[in-house]
Amino acid sequence: MKKLIIAAVAFAFAAPMVSQASPQSDLNKMKTHFAKKFPGVKYQDFANGVYALDKGRRIEWEAMEEFPPYEPGVEIGKSLFKKYKVGKCFKNGGIGIKQNYPYYDSKSGQVRTLEGDLMACLKRGGIDTKKEKLKFGKGKFAAIAAYMAYTSRGKTINVQVPGGKATSIYNKGKKFFYAKRGQLNFSCGDCHVYNAGVYLRTMLLSTAIGQTTHFPVYRKKWEAGGNTPLHGFGTIQRRYGGCNKMVRAKPLKPKKGKQHPSYVALEYFHTYMSNGMKINAPGVRQ
Ligand code: HEC
Repeated sequence: MKKLIIAAVAFAFAAPMVSQASPQSDLNKMKTHFAKKFPGVKYQDFANGVYALDKGRRIEWEAMEEFPPYEPGVEIGKSLFKKYKVGKCFKNGGIGIKQNYPYYDSKSGQVRTLEGDLMACLKRGGIDTKKEKLKFGKGKFAAIAAYMAYTSRGKTINVQVPGGKATSIYNKGKKFFYAKRGQLNFSCGDCHVYNAGVYLRTMLLSTAIGQTTHFPVYRKKWEAGGNTPLHGFGTIQRRYGGCNKMVRAKPLKPKKGKQHPSYVALEYFHTYMSNGMKINAPGVRQ
C-alpha cells in the first residue's frame, strides 16, 4: 500500500469537470478528452478497458477470450433465469434489454438499475432470496444478470436523462464520481479520467468511458476465490466497492434489500458516459 501512495504523488490532478452542464455536453467533453489523450484508439475499443491501451495486455486478453471462462457461468445464469421466471417481470421477456438501463422511472421518482429490478422481480415472485443465496453483486444473482447482459450483446447503450428529478440523480452520481474520498483522497475521475493510461504499481488505469459496457464482468481475481463457475462474476456495483476499498474508503452496502442510492446515482452517470457504445458483457478481466 505504501507504494500506491508513492505512485499517487506522481499523479496529475487536473481541474475536475464538475461544473453544471447537460449530460450530453458532459459526454461530449469526456469523449473529446479521451480522443485527444489516446488518438490511436477507436471509440468502441474503449469498451475493452485496459486492453484498448496496451498491446501486450491485449494479447493476453485475446488468449483468455479464445476459451471464454464465463461461458459455463452464463449457462447457469440462463437456467436460473428460467427457473425463477425472471422473464415475466421485464419487457421483451428480459432478453436484449440491458442497453436501456439504468432508467428513470417517473412513477416512483427513482432510477432503476437492471440488478435492482432483478432483485425486485425475484422478491415479487415469492422467491426466498436468503434461502436461495441470491445476493446483490455476485454468485447466482450476478450470473442471472450476466446472462441478461449477454443477450444484449451488440446493442447500443442508450441511457436517457429526461430532466427534473432524473437530472438531479444524474448530477448526484456525477458529484460522487468527482468527489475525493478515502484515506488516499482520490476520486474516480482522478484515476479513470485524468490518469487513465497511467500505471498504478502494476495496474494500468482504464478510461471511464466504456467501463460499464462489459458488466457484469468475469474476473480471474474473483474466480480464484471459489470453486464454481459462478465465482468470477461481479456486478458493476461490486466493482465500485472494490475501487472504494482501493483508496481505503468504505464500500456502500445494499440496505434493506435495495442497492445504495449513491451507487445507483453513480451507475446512472457512469453508464451515461458509455452512451453510444455497444454492450459486450460479460467481459473478462484480471
Ligand atoms: C486509486 C485509483 C482508483 C480509483 C480512485 C478508482 N479506481 Fe476504478 N480501478 C482502478 C484500477 C487499478 C482498476 C483495474 C484496472 C482498470 O481496469 O482500470 C480499476 C477498475 C475499475 C473498473 C473496471 C474496469 C473494467 O474494464 O472492467 C471500473 C468499472 C471502475 N474501476 C470504476 C471506478 C469508479 C466508479 C470509481 C469511483 C468510485 C473508481 N473506479 C475509483 C483504480 C481506481
